[in-house]
Amino acid sequence: MSYLPIQQLLQATPGTDVTVKGWVRTKRESKNAVFIAINDGSTINTIQAVAEAGQLPDDLLRQITTGACVAITGQLVESIGSGQNVEVKINDVTVYGPADPDKYPLQPKRHSLEFLREIAHLRPRTNTFSAILRVRHALAFAVHKYFNDNGFYYLNTPIITASDAEGAGEMFRVTTLDPLNPPRTDDGKVDYSEDFFGRETNLTVSGQLEGELGALALGKIYTFGPTFRAENSNTTRHLAEFWMIEPEMAFHELEDNMNLAEDFVRSVIRYALDHCADDLAFLDNRLKEEEKTKKKEEQSELSLIEKLRFVVDNQFERLTYTEAVDILINSKPAKKGQFQYEVTWGIDLQSEHERYLVERHFKKPVILTNYPRAIKAFYMKQDNAPATNSRGEVFGPTVRAMDVLFPGIGEIIGGSQREDDFDKLVARMNEVGIEPEALWWYLDTRRFGSAPHAGFGLGFERLVQFVTGMGNIRDVIPFPRAPKSAEF
Ligand code: 4AD
Ligand code: MG
Repeated sequence: MSYLPIQQLLQATPGTDVTVKGWVRTKRESKNAVFIAINDGSTINTIQAVAEAGQLPDDLLRQITTGACVAITGQLVESIGSGQNVEVKINDVTVYGPADPDKYPLQPKRHSLEFLREIAHLRPRTNTFSAILRVRHALAFAVHKYFNDNGFYYLNTPIITASDAEGAGEMFRVTTLDPLNPPRTDDGKVDYSEDFFGRETNLTVSGQLEGELGALALGKIYTFGPTFRAENSNTTRHLAEFWMIEPEMAFHELEDNMNLAEDFVRSVIRYALDHCADDLAFLDNRLKEEEKTKKKEEQSELSLIEKLRFVVDNQFERLTYTEAVDILINSKPAKKGQFQYEVTWGIDLQSEHERYLVERHFKKPVILTNYPRAIKAFYMKQDNAPATNSRGEVFGPTVRAMDVLFPGIGEIIGGSQREDDFDKLVARMNEVGIEPEALWWYLDTRRFGSAPHAGFGLGFERLVQFVTGMGNIRDVIPFPRAPKSAEF
């Protein structure tokens, strides 16, 4: 007898003998029949199985409760009432694993996201989380497909590394020494000669520097792997372990980088719209319910799917950091003193500023470019001319950076053209206190056959957040790692 996922069974022709395997969502008994709704994770939908009253022995029936795992054989028949075309007329039921109804935490009612975060080991069995995980999968597939279709090679960069790619010092250390009592040299420093790698190493914060090595050999590469940041940001946008997608391209300048970032993001979102219709419709409804609990003025004007369509169909707004600062200084919130942080040229824009630009001023995704050099990483290409604002004031120096800002998310992508001039790069490293000797291998790309190149990093979870409409980043990764939370 054929065993098919429910997603396929729901499309099958009535009349065939079938086996359904999955977890019981609900059981309902009427005078004449027993109705069992089953889900197997292949779709948001359940399939209904029906037995006649008295057909199933009592002790078996008692074990068929929410959460139990069952195999049901029967005949696929046309359904009259279940809201679906087909249902299963039960022949036989096997209970693989019961789920004590007094103890099983997931009952057929709406559980809060906070509660579900506490039972991260079981939450994939809920409609919301299974939908998110399927959308996450589709987006990951779309990422690989996009790059493959566009001539990029997938480059695997190291997880354990000796470099701090971002120079921000937010690394998790990796060592085989006793962390509480490491051997020390005479001058009191940790003696790494006994360490596995013989030196200080950490988990990668970004694959970019190795990505650049790949781009300056293969032309166009991308990475897609886990990255780790020990920043103590307890926000709805930060994880300690997140997945990053980092394309890096030789012979690309800032403009090409922006064009690629925009085309790429719009393509993968379009893929999700085309391939995850049922899950997105479910998440859209979930969000509509959530919106109803908010104050009228905080409610979103567009539904989730309308927002996704909007992004796919409309060009992003592009402007320089200097132009953005002008807009912010002249904005209503700035004049009324409503920003927590005052805006002046040179500040690192805060999320309140980014959200103003995206959600209130332009009402669409925005790409900001040419940021102050002082607030960006050492590897970004320096602009030749300083920045000038609308009043003719001159600021600088700036770098060929780009951040893509999304409504409800803030920064979703950070990238830049890279400094390809050996002398300028070394001078900048010295200025910010990065030893050129430590990155000798990186500098070799500028010593030998340097080329203009550019790239960016997309935070995968932030993309999944945008597409699923989830407010908290911990709800779009199966097993979130955040400060003070790593149950398993
Ligand atoms: O802006 P970031 O730090 O840039 C880089 O790491 C560059 N090396 C990328 C490159 O040019 N190849 O990080 C890139 C993106 C951010 O825009 C954000 O979406 C995401 O990574 N991100 C995080 N996502 C979740 N949790 C965190 N703690 C994150 N930190 C950054
Ligand atoms: Mg950034």
